[in-house]
Amino acid sequence: MDSTIVKMMRIASAWCVVALLTVGATWSQINSGSVPRIVEKNGRHALLVDGQPFLILGGQAHNSSGWPGMLPQVWLAIETMHANTLEVPIYWEQIEAQPGKFDFSLVDTLLIQTREHNVHLVLLWFATWKNGSSHYMPEWMKREASKYPNITGRNGQPVDSPSPHTQAAMEADAKAFTMVMKYLKEADPQHTVIMVQVENEPGAWGSVRDFSVEAQKLFEGQVPAELLKPEILKALNKPVVAKGTWKQVFRNDADEYFQAWSVARYIGYVAAAGKAVNPLPLYVNAALRDPISNPSASTYESGGPTDNVIPIWKVAAPAIDLLAPDIYLSDSERALKVIELYDRSDNPLFVPEIGSSEEYTRYFYSVLAHGGIGFSPFGIDDNGQGQGKAEIEARLAPLAQEYTMASPMMRELAQWGFEGKIKSVVEREDHAVQTIDLGLWQATVKFGTSGWRTEKTNAHPIGKAMVVQLGECEFLLIGTLCHFTFKPVGINAGKSWQYLKVEEGKYENGSFKLLRIRNGDETDWGGPRIGAVPTVLHTTLITR
Ligand code: DGJ
Repeated sequence: MDSTIVKMMRIASAWCVVALLTVGATWSQINSGSVPRIVEKNGRHALLVDGQPFLILGGQAHNSSGWPGMLPQVWLAIETMHANTLEVPIYWEQIEAQPGKFDFSLVDTLLIQTREHNVHLVLLWFATWKNGSSHYMPEWMKREASKYPNITGRNGQPVDSPSPHTQAAMEADAKAFTMVMKYLKEADPQHTVIMVQVENEPGAWGSVRDFSVEAQKLFEGQVPAELLKPEILKALNKPVVAKGTWKQVFRNDADEYFQAWSVARYIGYVAAAGKAVNPLPLYVNAALRDPISNPSASTYESGGPTDNVIPIWKVAAPAIDLLAPDIYLSDSERALKVIELYDRSDNPLFVPEIGSSEEYTRYFYSVLAHGGIGFSPFGIDDNGQGQGKAEIEARLAPLAQEYTMASPMMRELAQWGFEGKIKSVVEREDHAVQTIDLGLWQATVKFGTSGWRTEKTNAHPIGKAMVVQLGECEFLLIGTLCHFTFKPVGINAGKSWQYLKVEEGKYENGSFKLLRIRNGDETDWGGPRIGAVPTVLHTTLITR
C-alpha cells in the first residue's frame, strides 16, 4: 500500500480514538473485543471483560436445560434475576455423538440467544467427569468399556467413575475440548463467552482412588518430583523429603492425594490443549468436603479440588486459572470457611454454584468482600416443571433484589473488590451483633427489622451488611434487614461525632444518584436501618 495512504489511515484512526474519548466513549467500549482474562495485584484478582473488572452476577441452569426447547424458561429466570451471566452446560455426548464429527448447533443457539439477551455466558464442559461419573461421555465411548474404563474399588468392585489413567479417554476429551475452544474462537469474536468450566465436580464417589492393576503400579512407584518441592510438601502439611512412594511420602493421605494428582493431571492436559487454541479463563469446580472437621476422604468426592488438595491441583493443572467451590453448606461457619479457603493469592475466588434459596443469598456479600469475581446460584430455571412466571419470580425474588441493586454498579463493585475496599458481615445462626473495622471508625451491625421504638429479630439468619470504604470517613452502606451504628476509634476514640450526611440512592453510569437524604427518624435513634429491600446509603461521618 502507498505509504501516504498508510500515514493518512493512521492519522484517521488516531483521530477516531480521540473523537470517541471526547464524545464520552468509555475505556471498555474502546477495549471491547479483548479476550477476557484474570489479573492479579497484591494477591487480589479481577476478571477483565472488555478490558475492565467485571463481576459475574450469575445463575446456573439445571443440568439438562441447555437444549433449545428448554431455553425459554432459562431466559425467564435470567431476566427475573437481573443476572448478567448465564452458566449453562454443553454436552460432549451431543457435540461428538459420532467419533470425530462435531456438532456445534447447541453452542450456536446459546451464543445467539445470549447476545439477544445482552448477557454473557460461562460454558460448562460436561465431559469425562460429571459429579464423579462419566455419564456425559458419548455413547460410542460408553459402549467400549475396556477402552474407556471406570476405576476399580479397593476390593476389586466396579465404581461408577472414569479412570484418570486412560490415555485414550484423555486424548479424546482433549481433542473434543480443543474443537469446542477453537469453535468459540471463530464463532464468538465478541466474547459472549467469558469463562469455561472444564468437566464438572471431578473425582470419585465410592472409592478414594483407583485400585486397578495399572493404577496400583503407579501408586507403588515414586511420587513425581513436582510434588516433592519443599513449598508444596509444606503446604500439604507433610515432612519435606527428597523421594519416596506415595505411601512413604503422604502416609494416611496417600490414596486421596494419588487420586487428586491423577484426576488433576488428566484435566490439566485437557485444559492446556483447549487453552492453546483459545486463551479464555478456565476453571474446575469442587464438590466440597466439610471444611472444618478434616473428614476421611471416603466421605466425600475424592480426588476433586477439595480445599486440602488445592496445592496438588495447582501443580498438576497449571492451565486451570482457578478452583471453585460449589457451596451447598448453608450454615454460616462452614460457608464462610469455604469462601476463606478458596480465596488465595494463587486462586481467584469464584462461586459457580451455590444454593438458590434465600439463606444462601447472604454469601453474595461475603464473596464481594473477598474480592470474588462472581457468584452464581444453581438451578435457576424450573427444570421443565411448568412453573408460571409468578412462581418463578417468587422463588428468585431475594436474588433478583440483590442483582437489581448490584447491576448498575457492577463495574464499581468489581473494582472496589479488586482494591480490597469492601467489608461485609452476614447474619449468623445465633443472630449475634457483629462489628466491622473501618480504620478511624468501627461499624456495629445488628440484624433484624427496627424502626422508631420497635425492634424485631429476623426469624431466619438472612440479614447481611456490607461497607464500601470510599474515604476515611466516607462509606457506602449496603444490606438487608440490618441496622448500622458507628463509633470513632483509634486517634478519634472518645471524640463526639455525627452523621454529616446519609444519602439514599443508587449508582447509574458510574455515579451515585440521590433519591433522598435520610435524616430525622430515618437516621436518628441509633443510625441507618435497612429493611428487606437491599439499599445503598452513601454515608459521611464527622467528629466535632
Ligand atoms: C452439583 C453439580 O455440580 C450440579 O451439576 C448439580 O448436579 C448439583 N450438584 C445438584 O443438583
